[in-house]
Amino acid sequence: KQHIEEAKAFNDKNKEALEAFRIKYLGSKGLLKALFNEFKNIPNDQKKEFGQVINTLKAVAEEKVRSLQESLESGADNAGKYGDLTRPGMPFAVGARHPISLVKNQIIDIFSTIGFNVSEGPEIEDDWHNFTALNLPEYHPARDMQDTFFIQTNPDVLLRTHTSSVQVRYMESHKPPIRTISPGRVFRNEAVSSRSHCIFHQVEGLYIDKDVSFADLKQTLLYFTKEMFGKSKIRLRPSYFPFTEPSAEVDIYWGLKTETDYRITKGTGWLEIMGCGMVDPNVLKNCGINPEEYNGFAFGMGIERIAMLLYQIGDIRMFYENDVRFLEQFKTSI
Ligand code: PHE
Repeated sequence: KQHIEEAKAFNDKNKEALEAFRIKYLGSKGLLKALFNEFKNIPNDQKKEFGQVINTLKAVAEEKVRSLQESLESGADNAGKYGDLTRPGMPFAVGARHPISLVKNQIIDIFSTIGFNVSEGPEIEDDWHNFTALNLPEYHPARDMQDTFFIQTNPDVLLRTHTSSVQVRYMESHKPPIRTISPGRVFRNEAVSSRSHCIFHQVEGLYIDKDVSFADLKQTLLYFTKEMFGKSKIRLRPSYFPFTEPSAEVDIYWGLKTETDYRITKGTGWLEIMGCGMVDPNVLKNCGINPEEYNGFAFGMGIERIAMLLYQIGDIRMFYENDVRFLEQFKTSI
C-alpha cells in the first residue's frame, strides 16, 4: 500500500514536471515558438535547412511529451520507470573474504616482495612426497608426529600432512636457485578442539642456493615477523624435524601488556609461530639436487594460528563453520 502511495506521489510529481517541460519548450510562448519567430530573420538561402531542423525538433519533442503522458496516464505502478532518480539505490549484499584467505594473501605479498614465488601441489599425496623424500623412511618414529589419514596402504596414498610435499615436487622439477612458498590445505588425524583441527592451512617456504647460511634464514624470518605482526624481536629455539638440520622453533616476542598477552603467551610474552631449519642434505639428494653444490633453508607455519593471533579469534573451529556473523566481521578487510 505504501508503495502504491509513493508511486502515485511520483506520478503526480512527474506529471507536473512533464507539463512544465511542455510549456517551456512547446508552449505558445515557449522556446520552440521563439525559434519559429526567428525564421523571418534567417537569410533566404538558409531558410530551407533551418526550417527542416526546427520542424524535426518540434516533432521529436511533441512525440516525447506524448509518449511520457501516455505512460504516466497508464497507471501509478508504471511511474517508477521514470521515478525520482535522486532516490538512494537498493544496497548490494557484498561478500567478505575469508580470514584464512586474507592472511594467506598477506603472507604471499610479504614473501613475494623478496623474490619468493608461489607453488601448489595435490592434497592427495603418495608416501614419497609426504614422507620418504623428506628423510622420513618407513618405520621412522617421527612419522607418528603427524597423524596421517590414509586413503590406501601399500603403496600408501594419503592426505598430505604438510605442504613440505609441495617443496619436494618443486625441487624435483626446478633447478636452484629456488625461492618458493607453498600455501595449502593439510590434514591430520587429530581430535578437534578449540586449538586444533583435523583440516587446517599452512604456508611453507623453501630457499635453495649456493652458500646459504642460518643467518639468511633468521634475517628472512625477522623481515617476515616485522611485516606481518610489526614485531621485531624473535628467538629460535633448537628443535627437531627430520627434513632439516639444524632445526628450530620460531618464537616472537608478543609482549605482556594486556590480559590477552598473558593468556596466549602463558605468561612468558613469547609465542611460537613456526618451525624452520637448514634443509637436510638427504632431502636435497632425494630431490635430485647436489648437496655439495647447494644448500638452503625451509620454514613452515599454520595460517589459522596466525589469523587467530591477528584477529584475536579464540576458537579454530570458527574458521570452518561459515557462520555469517563471524565472516561478516571481515568485510572491511581487503
Ligand atoms: N613441515 C613442518 C610441519 O608441518 C614445518 C616445517 C617446515 C618445519 C619446514 C621445518 C621446516 O610441522
